[in-house]
Amino acid sequence: MVPVLRHILDARQFTRPWLEHSLFPTALRLQQTPVDQLEKALSGKRLFYLFYEASTRTRVSFEMAATLLGATVHGIDSHEQYAQEERLEDRIRVLNEYPHDFLLIRYDQEGGASRAAEVSRVPVINAGDGAGQHPTQALLDVYTLWRELGHVDGLRLALVGDLSYQRSTNSLAYLLTQFEGLHLYLVSPTLLRMRDEVREHLTSAGAVIEEVRDLREVASQVDVIYVTRAETSRLEHARRFEASAGWYTVDHDVLARLPETGRVLHPLPRGPELPPELDLDPRIACFRQAANGLYVRMALLSLLASGEA
Ligand code: CP
Repeated sequence: MVPVLRHILDARQFTRPWLEHSLFPTALRLQQTPVDQLEKALSGKRLFYLFYEASTRTRVSFEMAATLLGATVHGIDSHEQYAQEERLEDRIRVLNEYPHDFLLIRYDQEGGASRAAEVSRVPVINAGDGAGQHPTQALLDVYTLWRELGHVDGLRLALVGDLSYQRSTNSLAYLLTQFEGLHLYLVSPTLLRMRDEVREHLTSAGAVIEEVRDLREVASQVDVIYVTRAETSRLEHARRFEASAGWYTVDHDVLARLPETGRVLHPLPRGPELPPELDLDPRIACFRQAANGLYVRMALLSLLASGEA
């Protein structure tokens, strides 16, 4: 039988049954297993990473995930190459000539991972493509909601910052449509509002969305604040065109309004939108979120290897 080739490109490809019956239980089991007792489910497998943009969490957690499960990992980092030096498709075709089992790609433009998948005979995993998507970030974000709050249905979430060019919030919004009863506050400058196609996907799935420009107005009503890195020049530019100032930062005032059971997530790396002096507040979950990324990526790789992804 010819195995089905499964690329990981877009958060819309995941289903709720797969999340709840495969990915989350596998990630949880791996998280609860001492490192020296992990099964080498990827023994003999080879992962290659090709990164056109810098990364700490995605690259290192995938590398660690693959290594802990017995795979070998090689790659090319963003500082070692430039996109214009060679066509992406040519690089992928060459990497296919060597016996790799997974290609992990971060590209600097939207659509890069799909272009790679078009010419790849082995699974391509989108590790972030420009302003497009970051599907494995969304998997770890939703896993974190499930771990921290015990459920995802019915949550009230504020997605905060530049919602036009953030691949993390694009993918998270798409993945959240697998759940019911959601109320999303989209907190961004008008110029950086969430793309029409993502908002339409949310509303057609039954989510209630409200666009607001001041996080302080909704902080007391939400279970989760998902704040993204302020691309300062873009946000500053957008703010110059706004009649009145918006608020896209988590500060003491916002935390004072957030319910005691609330959580603050951030995909990291962060900027001034989430000041480190707030980190002692147990509701700030961004480092637990980053830690979860390791187990979610271990689960994803092992499910891909066994044909269950
Ligand atoms: N969240 C995230 O993608 O982080 P990196 O850029 O460090 O991979």
